[in-house]
Amino acid sequence: MTIYNPMRELPASAGYKKGDVLVLCGELFGRGYANGIVEEARAKGMTIIGATVGRRDADGTLRALNGEELAAAEEFLGGRIINVPLEAGFDMEPAADGRSPLDQLKGVKADDWDKVRLDWDGIEQSRSRGVARFSAALGAFAAELAQLIPPGANVLFVHTMAGGIPRARIFMPLLNRVFKGQGERFLSSEAFWNSDLGQLCRISFDEVTADTLSHLIDATEEVRERIAAAGGRVSYAAYGYHGTEVLIDGVYTWQSYTPYLQGWAKMRLEEAATAAWERGIKATVYNSPEIQTNSSGLFLGVEISLYPFLTALEREEGGALFRQVAQECRSLLKEGASLDALLSGANDYLASPLMVQFRDFDGWPLHNTPEQAEQMLSCATELLGLNANPKEIVCAALSRAVFTGVGRLMFDSSWQPAAPVFWLNHDIVAKRLAAG
Ligand SMILES: NC(=O)c1ccc[n+]([C@@H]2O[C@H](COP(=O)([O-])OP(=O)(O)OC[C@H]3O[C@@H](n4cnc5c(N)ncnc54)[C@H](O)[C@@H]3O)[C@@H](O)[C@H]2O)c1
Repeated sequence: MTIYNPMRELPASAGYKKGDVLVLCGELFGRGYANGIVEEARAKGMTIIGATVGRRDADGTLRALNGEELAAAEEFLGGRIINVPLEAGFDMEPAADGRSPLDQLKGVKADDWDKVRLDWDGIEQSRSRGVARFSAALGAFAAELAQLIPPGANVLFVHTMAGGIPRARIFMPLLNRVFKGQGERFLSSEAFWNSDLGQLCRISFDEVTADTLSHLIDATEEVRERIAAAGGRVSYAAYGYHGTEVLIDGVYTWQSYTPYLQGWAKMRLEEAATAAWERGIKATVYNSPEIQTNSSGLFLGVEISLYPFLTALEREEGGALFRQVAQECRSLLKEGASLDALLSGANDYLASPLMVQFRDFDGWPLHNTPEQAEQMLSCATELLGLNANPKEIVCAALSRAVFTGVGRLMFDSSWQPAAPVFWLNHDIVAKRLAAG
């Protein structure tokens, strides 16, 4: 169990400079968290080297990016991409009998989800083959990387990988009910998690969200030693999630999105960083606030915890930046809607008596209940309805502010990392933005 370790003091500015290297382990998407730290590295003139998860052809073959895809990805990243497909997971990996986990789930009907019985020997064979494939790919990635790092450079590895929902058809309708279902459509996350399908998700989340960091640390051992021998620093920074302190009734209070089924994998990620730290490797998981990205789209309601960031920004900065973000948010609301209504709606939900029992740090991650789902999803829908255009929402502006602040904190903290796990709550993120 990780000890709660919120970052309360701003770290000193990092000493990274031109010629130092940021290695982004995970693909960069437009709204993703990694944009913050990449922007920061770019501003300091660092060389940026990226990765790709690769692409799947129609027949399921995993391949590197083609010329066009690579050019577009490199342009977006502003750096070179090592074109080795780093897709983690094992859902399409055949077991000894040739059947992959997806094959095992072919033709299963949504109504029969709780009757599925998986062949666990086959799943384990697929899992270990997936690990072998991913580790081999990471080995090839590290070998290319070694050629690209100038002697004496400091190197910051940034791990962004998370995911692992098996790509069988059965999962999306089910998970939509777990995360977005209310009334008749409600599905207990606990019932799902305890089913064979839930257990398959658990193993897959562990692989993609957590073990990728351990594999990365292992695969880059030689590179790491070479950098250190040439006098460079090496740090690993990874994004975690383990709830966030946000302003509730004017007090910074730890809360979490429920049901966060990736939570067990995120704690395993913390353990991976802690184990590496104990071996003298500077690996740190930064537990970061809820924002809207490609990956968080499934978790309707996660954005309710993001709205009070505006209040935190007002408290910690309260100047030109706050006014600019508030104005941007205001301009996205529909006629007759106000920021006050948005913020008080979010606060009413977060402060409601029902939610208090969900602020159980030791019991985290908690499962959903019909009442909690009802309350969260109706509040989420009501607040999203305050935007004029569902495609351009207040959450995007707030997410940008948060990932910028988080990126700066992770960047600075990585220069001289002080612990294997930190929580970056709304207070410190807003303070970092206030510091410019
Ligand atoms: N969005 C949030 O609210 C939030 C909050 C706290 C932490 N985080 C964490 O931030 C990190 C970045 O996520 P994001 O929300 O910016 O979304 P994102 O979709 O931009 O990033 C997800 C990353 O995971 C990688 N990935 C996905 N499936 C993979 C697979 N099978 N194998 C290897 N890599 C895979 C993608 O390439 C990408 O780099 C993740 O670790 C996420 O858990 C997100």
